[in-house]
Amino acid sequence: MATRILGIESSCDETAAAVVADGREILSNVVASQISVHRKYGGVVPELASREHLRSIVPVVREALESAGLTLRDIDAVGVTYGPGLVGSLLVGLTYGKTVANALGKPLIGVNHLEGHVRAVFLEAFRSGRAPCLPAVCLIVSGGHTMLYEVAADGPAESLSAVPLRYRKIGQTRDDAAGEAYDKVAKLLALGYPGGPIIDRLVAHATGIVSPNGESIDFSAAKIRGNVYDFSFSGIKTAVLYYVRAHPELQAEIEERRCALTRGERSAEKLLPLCSAQTLRLLVSFQKRVVAELVTRTLQAAEEIAAQSILVSGGVAANNELRSSFERDAERRSLPVFFPSRELSTDNAAMIAAAAYPKLLAAQFAGWDLNAEPVLPLA
Ligand code: KG4
Ligand code: ZN
Repeated sequence: MATRILGIESSCDETAAAVVADGREILSNVVASQISVHRKYGGVVPELASREHLRSIVPVVREALESAGLTLRDIDAVGVTYGPGLVGSLLVGLTYGKTVANALGKPLIGVNHLEGHVRAVFLEAFRSGRAPCLPAVCLIVSGGHTMLYEVAADGPAESLSAVPLRYRKIGQTRDDAAGEAYDKVAKLLALGYPGGPIIDRLVAHATGIVSPNGESIDFSAAKIRGNVYDFSFSGIKTAVLYYVRAHPELQAEIEERRCALTRGERSAEKLLPLCSAQTLRLLVSFQKRVVAELVTRTLQAAEEIAAQSILVSGGVAANNELRSSFERDAERRSLPVFFPSRELSTDNAAMIAAAAYPKLLAAQFAGWDLNAEPVLPLA
């Protein structure tokens, strides 16, 4: 009979629960987003996030069980994120997970959120009947993280849902995460929160509006001393800020968009007519630079370690230009690239349940004293 793990995730601003069978088959995957709560602040407010997790955790777990057609008694173990993340947020999911596991007399498994993002790629690959060959280079790119890891394991690709993965850190951001840069640029230009999805859509719509022969805004590549696989995104964010300061003619449309957002008009269709060609060019250039930083370093790292595949995960992995750039540039090198679906790219609990499965098989159970670890490294 299948082994069913209840996964719980509450490290940032999504309360999530899921049931996954044998580390590969998603029976349910429920995510309660807090975007509407944090939107007016343009970023996650930790105290509000904890409060929302408290409100949502019970109904979200209940819904995950119901939509899997199961009850708590059908669960074999509870996998829960214990770091990295916001301590108050982590504690809600962790305390609830411990309570459920203890009451049921089932094992508790602590999961690193970053390992969850890696496992999300495998979950998606299994779903489509593929499996990445290892070693791989994995880019985790979200609102909180921009990390590059080497991922290795023993055993054939098809069995990877059941075996532990080994990680080596190759690089990481020195300042902002890539998603954070998207969110800050969107805030500066009054494009709403979160910034990634709206900038992604506006840039896609901009093709055809922004003439290729028009004035281009070039942002230079980040200069990194030391580890060439580290990232930096604060420079590009500041470059956008200086551009806006140097072009006061942009203020009127920024104000118009601010009013539109206040009226709840936040879709690309509503905001696009309020963006001048100059603003669209700015967004095109910003995204081009961010994508180039991510793709170039990842491909260089893949070459250096002779990786067999590339894995890309985290909220920013949903980005259309990032996906097409990776596919185009990696294909040229005959390297397969694996992404999770958009729903598995952003924070979810199916990836946490999947990451818990090999630990359950290896009897790596957590004690009842498992604590939240806001700065938990993966490697
Ligand atoms: O993984 P995630 O849900 O949460 C964190 O762990 O941070 O990622 C959220 C981040 C936000 O910064 C959001 O702006 C970004 O991912 N994001 C995107 C896209 N969708 C979400 N960035 C670029 N393009 C997208 N399509
Ligand atoms: Zn995440």
